[in-house]
Parts: sequence; C-alpha cells; structure tokens
Amino acid sequence: METLWLSCVPGGEHSKQNISAAAAVLCTGGVVAIPTETVYGLAANAFDEAAVAKIFEAKGRPQDNPLIVHIAEPEDMDKLCEPVPDIARRLALRFWPGPLTIVLKAKDCVPKIVTAGLETVAIRCPSNPVALAIIREAGVPCAAPSANISGSPSPTDAAHVKADLNGRIDAIVAAGTCEVGLESTIVDLSGSAPRLLRPGGITKEQLLTVLDSLEDVDYDENLHGSTPPSPGMKYRHYAPNAPLTILRGDAAQIVDYINRQKQQDDESPVRQHCPARKCAVLVFEEDKSVFDAAGIDCVTLSRRDDPNTAARKLYSSLRKLDAMDCSRLYAQYPSGKELWYTVRNRLLKAAGQQVLDIK
Ligand code: TXA
Ligand code: MG
Repeated sequence: METLWLSCVPGGEHSKQNISAAAAVLCTGGVVAIPTETVYGLAANAFDEAAVAKIFEAKGRPQDNPLIVHIAEPEDMDKLCEPVPDIARRLALRFWPGPLTIVLKAKDCVPKIVTAGLETVAIRCPSNPVALAIIREAGVPCAAPSANISGSPSPTDAAHVKADLNGRIDAIVAAGTCEVGLESTIVDLSGSAPRLLRPGGITKEQLLTVLDSLEDVDYDENLHGSTPPSPGMKYRHYAPNAPLTILRGDAAQIVDYINRQKQQDDESPVRQHCPARKCAVLVFEEDKSVFDAAGIDCVTLSRRDDPNTAARKLYSSLRKLDAMDCSRLYAQYPSGKELWYTVRNRLLKAAGQQVLDIK
C-alpha cells in the first residue's frame, strides 16, 4: 500500500487540509501515524475492530498487548470507563492534556481487541495540538500504540515512523520532533490503591502532589518471573543490535575500561575470524571531549543537568548508535531524580539491565 505523507508543521501551508485528510482516514477504517507530545502513535478508530486489527498487523504486535485509547476531551473518559473515581478526575484535571495514561475499569462499549480482553482500559488525553485536532475532527476515540515495528525504539520523529512502517499503514502525519520523547506515565486506578505501571513524562514526584500514595510496580522480565501487572511489560523491549552496557564511572575511567576491552578483543583468538570490532558510547555533552581525545566514537545525549533534552533525544540517539554498526555499545549512567528516573528506566531496558560499576 502507498503511505500518504501528510505534513502538519505549525503554520504549514497544507496543515489544515492534512489534519482533515488524517481524520478522514480514521473515519473510513484506516490507520494513521500521528504525532503526540510523547512519541508518534499509530492510530485507528477505537470502536472499529477491523481498523484496530490493522494496528496489530502493521506493527507485528502480539494480540494480548492492549492499546491506549486517546481522547480529545477529558470528559470523554466517562464514555469509556466506569466507575470513574474522583482521584482519576483529579489526576486528569491536573495533568491532561499531557503525558499521563490512566487505567480504569472499561465499559462494555470498548472493544475487546483494544483491551486485549482485560476488564480495564488505558486512557490518555494528549497535549500535542495536531493530535488533538485530528482526534476532534474524526470525532472518535483513537486506539494508538507507539508507531514503531514491535521491538524497535519508539519513534520521536516522522522519519522514524517512515523507516519502520512505510508501505504498511495508510498515512503518516509529519509534525516534527516529539516534545517529551519518552512514552506516557501509566497509572492504574482500577484497583484499591494507585499503581505506577510505567514511569514516563509525568514524574512520580508530580503524581504525588495529587495522590496520597503510589505503588511502583514497574516490572522487568529479567528480574521477575511472575505475571506482570501490565501485559506490555512481559515483552522484550527495544534492544540495540549490538550488546549495550551502561557504565558507572567518570569519563576517564570509562575511556580506560573501553581501551582495555578493545585490547582484550584484539588479543582474543576469535578476533582473527571477525571483522574489525567497533564500539560507540552514548555520552554527556560535558564529557564528549574526553572521548574525542581518546578516538572513541560517541553520540551525545544531553548535558548532565538537562533531563528534558535527554528524554527528547534518547530514542533517536539509540537509533543513531544502531546505525553505526558496532559490535559493542556503551552508555554513561544517567543518575538523578524525577525525569532522569524515566530516562534511566528506558536506557536500562535497552541494555537488558546491564550496568557495570567501574569506579
Ligand atoms: O505515550 C504513550 O503512551 C504512547 C503515545 C502514542 O500515546 N503510546 C504508547 O503505547 O506508548 P504502547 O502501546 O507502546 O504502550 C502502551 C502500554 C503497553 O505496555 C500496554 O501493555 C499498556 O500500555 N496497557 C495498555 N492497556 C492497559 C491496561 N488496560 N492495563 C495495563 N496496561 C495496559
Ligand atoms: Mg510501544
């Protein structure tokens, strides 16, 4: 199939028509990648089961992994969920539109293909104006996972969507780079106490300004064997082609470690049969010169005091590292609270939780 490219950059000549074109695709049972403030989403009319099935097909997503339903008006939560507890309304009032997903008991009108048969549904009101305009004009809630092939990093730019899904979906709405860059925070309010299923753009600290308590149940298949609280947690997360290790230490110690590692690789008997081994490192801006001076390839994430940039650039940086065709990848350990917690969560998942202390 030919994938329409619908440019919707702010002030763009055709933005209005292209928003209407995207809404029309949704209303006629198609799937369209739309920008959100977190990552690009692959949207379909949540009430159209055949359209939602196309999302799973295009992404190669397992059928038992439920989708987030995106709404343009916070009140639409009442059309999809019951009961809507007071605490859900308070969170929505404080953080919507924005990068927060709330899990509540689903009404019968929500198709089982969206919830993967669960009794609950995940709802989010995004803040990206293009996303809001498209959902509003379509006049239906939109089921949308991240618009990547399952197993690759979430797309934070329309070009990433194109690289993964061109020819597999009806249209891509291109509206630049996502503002947050990491997926929404997921809070489950369907049980007796609020549970954090996935850290994201809204931090735990922010949530605790509204909630009295929050149980962090973030799950990793490498660390636990039991049933995860959210189906998506059991699936392998994005992992780069080369093994990624997160290194804890200062830049000089990391350079030292990498040089020793290279030497060992060179001396290894297997080495003779392998092409030259290349490595690259995800580094902080402050340390780039140390790696440059040592002749080690690197990709810059952000300054150490700038978690917003780190969040915005993490997935595109991982895509860049992957494209460098290395046999080993490293990243500097991102310490810190609040949004750094989310950045660390995603980086640790990409690294299969491999952290090495080289202090
Ligand atoms: O920021 C985001 O949340 C992006 C944008 C497009 O909105 N979407 C996104 O969707 O990250 P996806 O499908 O990549 O991740 C959704 C996660 C999955 O881990 C899924 O298992 C979980 O949400 N989920 C969906 N419905 C759920 C439910 N009823 N209960 C528990 N977890 C649920
Ligand atoms: Mg995803």
